[in-house]
Amino acid sequence: MKVALASDHGGVNIRKEIAGLLEELGIEYKDFGCECSTSVDYPDYALPVAEKVANGEFDRGILICGTGIGMSIAANKVKGIRCALVHDTFSARATRQHNDSNILAMGERVIGPGLAREIAEVWLTEEFQAGRHSNRIGKISEYENQNL
Ligand code: RB5
Repeated sequence: MKVALASDHGGVNIRKEIAGLLEELGIEYKDFGCECSTSVDYPDYALPVAEKVANGEFDRGILICGTGIGMSIAANKVKGIRCALVHDTFSARATRQHNDSNILAMGERVIGPGLAREIAEVWLTEEFQAGRHSNRIGKISEYENQNL
Protein backbone atom coordinates (compact mmCIF):
# COMPACT_ATOMS: atom_id res chain seq x y z
CA MET A 1 0.00 0.00 0.00
CA LYS A 2 1.22 3.52 -0.86
CA VAL A 3 -0.17 6.41 1.17
CA ALA A 4 -0.16 10.13 0.30
CA LEU A 5 -0.08 12.29 3.44
CA ALA A 6 -0.64 16.05 3.78
CA SER A 7 -1.88 18.72 6.14
CA ASP A 8 -2.36 22.45 6.29
CA HIS A 9 -0.86 24.53 9.11
CA GLY A 10 -3.66 23.39 11.43
CA GLY A 11 -2.69 19.71 11.18
CA VAL A 12 1.10 19.57 11.27
CA ASN A 13 1.44 17.79 14.62
CA ILE A 14 -0.98 14.99 13.81
CA ARG A 15 0.56 14.65 10.34
CA LYS A 16 3.94 14.02 11.99
CA GLU A 17 2.33 11.49 14.34
CA ILE A 18 0.79 9.66 11.36
CA ALA A 19 4.09 9.71 9.48
CA GLY A 20 5.65 7.96 12.49
CA LEU A 21 2.83 5.40 12.53
CA LEU A 22 3.25 4.66 8.81
CA GLU A 23 6.98 4.11 9.36
CA GLU A 24 6.30 1.76 12.29
CA LEU A 25 3.77 -0.19 10.24
CA GLY A 26 6.22 -0.39 7.32
CA ILE A 27 3.73 1.30 4.99
CA GLU A 28 5.23 3.23 2.08
CA TYR A 29 4.17 6.87 2.11
CA LYS A 30 5.01 10.31 0.78
CA ASP A 31 4.59 13.46 2.85
CA PHE A 32 3.29 16.34 0.70
CA GLY A 33 3.62 18.99 3.41
CA CYS A 34 2.88 21.62 4.34
CA GLU A 35 6.08 23.15 5.63
CA CYS A 36 3.73 25.61 7.26
CA SER A 37 5.71 28.39 8.87
CA THR A 38 2.74 30.52 7.78
CA SER A 39 -0.94 29.97 7.12
CA VAL A 40 -1.75 28.00 3.94
CA ASP A 41 -4.94 27.05 2.07
CA TYR A 42 -6.17 23.48 2.64
CA PRO A 43 -7.42 22.92 -0.97
CA ASP A 44 -3.81 23.34 -2.17
CA TYR A 45 -3.00 20.17 -0.22
CA ALA A 46 -6.26 18.21 -0.38
CA LEU A 47 -6.76 18.40 -4.16
CA PRO A 48 -3.30 17.17 -5.27
CA VAL A 49 -3.45 14.27 -2.78
CA ALA A 50 -6.98 13.38 -3.92
CA GLU A 51 -5.89 13.45 -7.56
CA LYS A 52 -2.95 11.18 -6.83
CA VAL A 53 -5.25 8.67 -5.14
CA ALA A 54 -7.88 8.94 -7.88
CA ASN A 55 -5.32 8.33 -10.65
CA GLY A 56 -3.80 5.33 -8.86
CA GLU A 57 -0.42 6.85 -8.12
CA PHE A 58 -1.22 6.25 -4.43
CA ASP A 59 -3.63 3.70 -2.93
CA ARG A 60 -4.82 5.85 -0.03
CA GLY A 61 -4.56 9.37 1.33
CA ILE A 62 -4.56 10.89 4.81
CA LEU A 63 -5.36 14.60 5.18
CA ILE A 64 -5.25 16.68 8.34
CA CYS A 65 -6.43 20.25 8.94
CA GLY A 66 -7.84 22.07 11.96
CA THR A 67 -11.24 20.40 11.77
CA GLY A 68 -10.74 17.92 8.92
CA ILE A 69 -13.81 19.46 7.32
CA GLY A 70 -12.13 21.63 4.69
CA MET A 71 -9.84 18.79 3.63
CA SER A 72 -12.74 16.35 3.32
CA ILE A 73 -14.93 18.77 1.37
CA ALA A 74 -12.12 19.50 -1.09
CA ALA A 75 -11.00 15.87 -1.50
CA ASN A 76 -14.55 14.69 -2.17
CA LYS A 77 -14.75 17.02 -5.20
CA VAL A 78 -12.33 14.74 -7.04
CA LYS A 79 -13.99 11.98 -9.03
CA GLY A 80 -13.43 8.55 -7.50
CA ILE A 81 -12.60 9.87 -4.05
CA ARG A 82 -14.46 8.66 -0.99
CA CYS A 83 -12.98 10.78 1.77
CA ALA A 84 -14.22 10.06 5.30
CA LEU A 85 -13.95 12.63 8.08
CA VAL A 86 -13.39 10.49 11.15
CA HIS A 87 -12.85 11.26 14.83
CA ASP A 88 -13.55 7.87 16.43
CA THR A 89 -12.37 4.31 15.89
CA PHE A 90 -15.87 2.91 15.33
CA SER A 91 -16.33 5.16 12.29
CA ALA A 92 -12.80 4.42 11.10
CA ARG A 93 -13.62 0.71 10.98
CA ALA A 94 -17.10 1.23 9.53
CA THR A 95 -15.98 3.53 6.73
CA ARG A 96 -13.44 0.99 5.53
CA GLN A 97 -15.84 -1.93 5.83
CA HIS A 98 -18.84 -0.19 4.30
CA ASN A 99 -17.66 2.79 2.23
CA ASP A 100 -14.25 1.56 1.05
CA SER A 101 -13.06 5.10 1.84
CA ASN A 102 -9.79 5.85 0.10
CA ILE A 103 -8.95 9.05 1.98
CA LEU A 104 -9.09 9.64 5.74
CA ALA A 105 -9.50 13.22 7.03
CA MET A 106 -9.02 14.24 10.65
CA GLY A 107 -8.99 17.52 12.58
CA GLU A 108 -6.14 18.39 14.91
CA ARG A 109 -8.28 20.92 16.77
CA VAL A 110 -10.84 18.20 17.42
CA ILE A 111 -8.84 15.18 18.63
CA GLY A 112 -5.41 14.54 20.10
CA PRO A 113 -2.48 12.70 18.55
CA GLY A 114 -3.09 9.45 20.44
CA LEU A 115 -6.64 9.01 19.16
CA ALA A 116 -5.63 10.15 15.65
CA ARG A 117 -3.00 7.44 15.59
CA GLU A 118 -5.47 4.74 16.68
CA ILE A 119 -8.01 5.91 14.10
CA ALA A 120 -5.39 5.85 11.34
CA GLU A 121 -4.19 2.38 12.34
CA VAL A 122 -7.72 0.96 12.27
CA TRP A 123 -8.46 2.71 8.98
CA LEU A 124 -5.23 1.45 7.37
CA THR A 125 -5.74 -2.17 8.37
CA GLU A 126 -9.49 -2.72 8.05
CA GLU A 127 -10.78 -4.37 4.87
CA PHE A 128 -13.74 -3.41 2.69
CA GLN A 129 -16.55 -5.96 3.13
CA ALA A 130 -17.84 -5.61 -0.45
CA GLY A 131 -21.16 -7.49 -0.96
CA ARG A 132 -24.14 -5.15 -0.60
CA HIS A 133 -21.76 -2.25 0.03
CA SER A 134 -20.29 -2.57 -3.49
CA ASN A 135 -23.73 -1.94 -4.93
CA ARG A 136 -24.08 1.25 -2.88
CA ILE A 137 -20.66 2.56 -3.85
CA GLY A 138 -21.50 1.68 -7.44
CA LYS A 139 -24.46 4.06 -7.27
CA ILE A 140 -22.14 6.90 -6.25
CA SER A 141 -19.73 6.10 -9.10
CA GLU A 142 -22.62 5.93 -11.54
CA TYR A 143 -23.77 9.39 -10.41
CA GLU A 144 -20.24 10.75 -10.79
CA ASN A 145 -19.94 9.34 -14.28
CA GLN A 146 -23.25 10.86 -15.36
CA ASN A 147 -22.72 14.27 -13.82
CA LEU A 148 -19.06 15.11 -14.30
C1 RB5 B 1 -7.40 26.87 9.12
O1 RB5 B 1 -7.50 27.94 9.99
C2 RB5 B 1 -8.64 26.01 9.18
O2 RB5 B 1 -9.71 26.69 8.61
C3 RB5 B 1 -8.41 24.71 8.48
O3 RB5 B 1 -7.34 24.04 9.09
C4 RB5 B 1 -9.55 23.73 8.50
O4 RB5 B 1 -10.04 23.54 9.78
C5 RB5 B 1 -10.62 23.97 7.53
O5 RB5 B 1 -11.59 23.25 7.41
